[in-house]
Amino acid sequence: MTGPNDIDAIRAAFQTDLAAVANEQDLQTVRDRYLGRKQGAVAALMKSMADAPPADRPAIGKSANLLKREIDLALATRKETLEASTRPAGSVDVTLPGREMPFGRRHPLTLIREQVESIFGTMGFEILQGPQVEDDYHNFEALNMPPDHPARDMQDTFYLDRPMPGVDRTASTQPATLLRTHTSGMQIRYMENHQPPVRIIAPGLVYRRDTPDLTHSPMFLQVEGLLVDDGITMADLKGTLVSFLQAFFDTDIRVMFRPSFFPYTEPSAEVFISCVFCGGDGCPVCKKTGWLEILGCGMVHPAVFEAVGYDPERYTGWAFGLGIDRVALLKHRVEDIRLFYDNDLRLLEQFPH
Ligand code: DAH
Repeated sequence: MTGPNDIDAIRAAFQTDLAAVANEQDLQTVRDRYLGRKQGAVAALMKSMADAPPADRPAIGKSANLLKREIDLALATRKETLEASTRPAGSVDVTLPGREMPFGRRHPLTLIREQVESIFGTMGFEILQGPQVEDDYHNFEALNMPPDHPARDMQDTFYLDRPMPGVDRTASTQPATLLRTHTSGMQIRYMENHQPPVRIIAPGLVYRRDTPDLTHSPMFLQVEGLLVDDGITMADLKGTLVSFLQAFFDTDIRVMFRPSFFPYTEPSAEVFISCVFCGGDGCPVCKKTGWLEILGCGMVHPAVFEAVGYDPERYTGWAFGLGIDRVALLKHRVEDIRLFYDNDLRLLEQFPH
């Protein structure tokens, strides 16, 4: 007859046997004695249940199962302490799985910038870095935008030394400092210190007082391009940009140049690519036009050459400004520019290391 007393007796006997365990072999002996499928005490207990009155069987079965789990756990714990005590103090358990190191990765915009740099790099362009805190002269004035030029309004500016209301900044003897609104100032900075031929790109962060929305962020990335030499024409500009865009988007996209205006280029153009979403058929992203605008460009204005001391009668050149965020959005089909600046790992982890 099986009863609670048998269970208690087995538990007590197990405790005594367990306390006497000195090594792995003892442990195995105890395991066989209590949990062995055929000879084990718990197995015998289960078998003897058949003789118990049917009404008692569920309760006995339950306690027998509990006892089995209890013994299992106690054996596992003893096994661990045994293993720990056989290891020399301070040694490392080389069988433990390694701890995974969290990997950082480059930001998707960094990857795009590096790709732009690599394509222009193979075309022989030098890659420049420039200051994000810029002065009025390089950001505007030398680019043919004198203080009251209306084109300044196209780029709402963060001034770092905004004068008191009512004070005329243009009358100040101190040039204003600001967060650069575009990378175009790098054209001036480079030409001030180098003679033609010029072949540079200047990627970097720029800032504008824009309210963030799907397509605007107050901080974003641009890349400026500038090429100056004897006899440079708009055909050079077109050929370079078409080659770049086809390499970058890695498909046979079509490129369209449309007349535009920038104070520092004449003539100026806006460049569109056939929509990467619909292939040019028309969709919501391209507003049914089939085209997406991605950069501004043109032939360097003679006034810019004069500002840096180049002879506009001798040299010609072209320049462009491309939105890195813009092409990154198109390439990765991300629909909200703000996602690039949120640092949400769910987005960032989708890009390669
Ligand atoms: N600076 C312009 C912008 O931020 C882009 C641009 C247009 C750059 C024409 C150029 C250029 O160099 O020639 O919108």
